[in-house]
Amino acid sequence: MTPVVVLTGFMGSGKSTVGQELSRSLGVEFVDTDLELEHRAGRTIAEIFADDGEKQFRTLELETVRDVLADSGGIVSLGGGSVTVPAIRDALVGHHVVYLEISADDGFARVAGTDRPLLAAADPAKRYAELLDARRDIYRAVATHTVDATDAVERLVATIIDALPDSGGYAATTGEQA
Ligand code: S3P
Repeated sequence: MTPVVVLTGFMGSGKSTVGQELSRSLGVEFVDTDLELEHRAGRTIAEIFADDGEKQFRTLELETVRDVLADSGGIVSLGGGSVTVPAIRDALVGHHVVYLEISADDGFARVAGTDRPLLAAADPAKRYAELLDARRDIYRAVATHTVDATDAVERLVATIIDALPDSGGYAATTGEQA
C-alpha cells in the first residue's frame, strides 16, 4: 500500500487537524506517526526525549515512519522534525508529500504552552523561529505540493484533494470512481 497523502510541516502547522479532516473526506484511515511511535514505545514523546534524548527519538521515528509508509493506504501525518532525518527524506521519495507552510509568528501562537520538548528553552518563541528557519528549505525540498497552513481547514482539505496527483491511489483505496 501507499499513502494517499503524507503531511509534513513544522509544529503547529495543523498536520493532525487537517489530516483527520482529509481522511474523513476521502474515507481513508488517518495515521499520526507521533501517536503511532508513542503507542509502540509505551511512552510519550516528552518522556522519550527526557529519558533517552533526541537521537534515540529520531531512531524510533525512522522505524515508525518507514513502517507506516509501507503499511498505510490513507493519510499520514509526520512529526515536525522527521524530515531532518536523511533516511526519512529518502523514504519519502515517490510519495505525495504536502507541506503545510506557516510563519514563525502564526505557528508559535498555536503551540505556545504545549508540551513540545524542543521548545523547552528560555525563549521558546525565538527557538521556534530558529528551528523553522533551519528547516524551511528541507520541507520545501521534500514536498511535492505546498499549501498555506493558515487557510481554514475545510479550504485546505479541498485544496489538497484538488491537488492529488491522480485519483488512482484514492480510487484504489476507496473503490470509488475516479
Ligand atoms: C518535533 C515535532 C513534534 C514531535 C517531537 C519533535 C520536531 O511533532 O515529533 O516533539 O522536531 O519538530 P509535531 O510536529 O506533531 O508537534
